[in-house]
Amino acid sequence: MEAIIVEHLTKKFGDFTAVDDLTFSVNKGEVFGLLGPNGAGKTTTVRMLSCLISSTNGNATISGYNITNKDDAMKIRKITGIVHDDVGLYENLTAYENLLFFGRMYEAPDKTIKTNIERYLNMLDLWDWKDRQVSSFSKGMRQKVAIARALVHDPTILFMDEPTANLDPEASKVIRETILSLKSEDRTIFLNTHNLDEAQRICDRIGVLKTRMIAVDTPVSLEKSMTGRRTNIVLDAVSEGILDAVRALKPLSLEVQGRTLVLELSDPAKETPVIITSVAAAGGKITTVNETGASLEDVYLKLVKE
Ligand SMILES: Nc1ncnc2c1ncn2[C@@H]1O[C@H](COP(=O)(O)OP(=O)(O)OP(=O)(O)O)[C@@H](O)[C@H]1O
Ligand SMILES: [Mg+2]
Repeated sequence: MEAIIVEHLTKKFGDFTAVDDLTFSVNKGEVFGLLGPNGAGKTTTVRMLSCLISSTNGNATISGYNITNKDDAMKIRKITGIVHDDVGLYENLTAYENLLFFGRMYEAPDKTIKTNIERYLNMLDLWDWKDRQVSSFSKGMRQKVAIARALVHDPTILFMDEPTANLDPEASKVIRETILSLKSEDRTIFLNTHNLDEAQRICDRIGVLKTRMIAVDTPVSLEKSMTGRRTNIVLDAVSEGILDAVRALKPLSLEVQGRTLVLELSDPAKETPVIITSVAAAGGKITTVNETGASLEDVYLKLVKE
């Protein structure tokens, strides 16, 4: 089931088109990553989807509610949470007071808010700090409070705009684990990030944005979409007999580099074992077999360059 359906969504600031004609959807319980260079329109997209700014054209529904409808916008605000790209907390309030304040702004029941404050501050390793003023918090601690703030009213859909920017590796891991734990409760997470490694680890699907949506797919399929994966078979010695045996299996390409056969295959998982068997049958002694290939980073850089 789709939690978010986006159709031809467009945002113009004056004559300038910041987001152009996006059409895609996000499934319920999915972690969807939006990648794109600075100025690609990620923040603008998230702001439109969470009804903070209006769209110029097109439409989107969030759990069936329409972002262009005023009554629906109120409902969307209640079922979504947003972690902004800038934290925006009250410095002279404690972590707990901040969370209580924002929870009440969403008009959630106090009991829900208090249960969630305890839950998320614990999950984010901040419970012991709950009665300290935010002014004494480090960047990472503020970021964690901002994440808890987005969750106090129990949203089913969470928008996170670069939640781990500026965080140390350990804190980033805590955030990733929090995201996966929210996913396990069937919540939907929409994540803007520049961190390809993070996207690869936790996103079910990734959209690559550069004003327009360039690609939407799983990390694995994105990697596969790019040619450039090579299977390397290192042998004791290469002979014509071995090369004939490999050629007979019709790889996309075959190159000999010293004692290494460098192959381009359309389906390495299927073809590699067959090739290994034939090479051995032709008298080849295999030392190692490995695959070098396009990483998500290669694919991303290629997509945003084009
Ligand atoms: N309120 C605004 N008025 C005019 N232009 C804007 C406004 N908000 C955003 N823009 C422009 O829209 C484009 C997209 O900005 P946006 O903040 O959505 O990018 P982003 O993908 O989030 O970038 P980053 O990775 O740097 O956070 C940019 O060129 C930006 O200058
Ligand atoms: Mg941004």
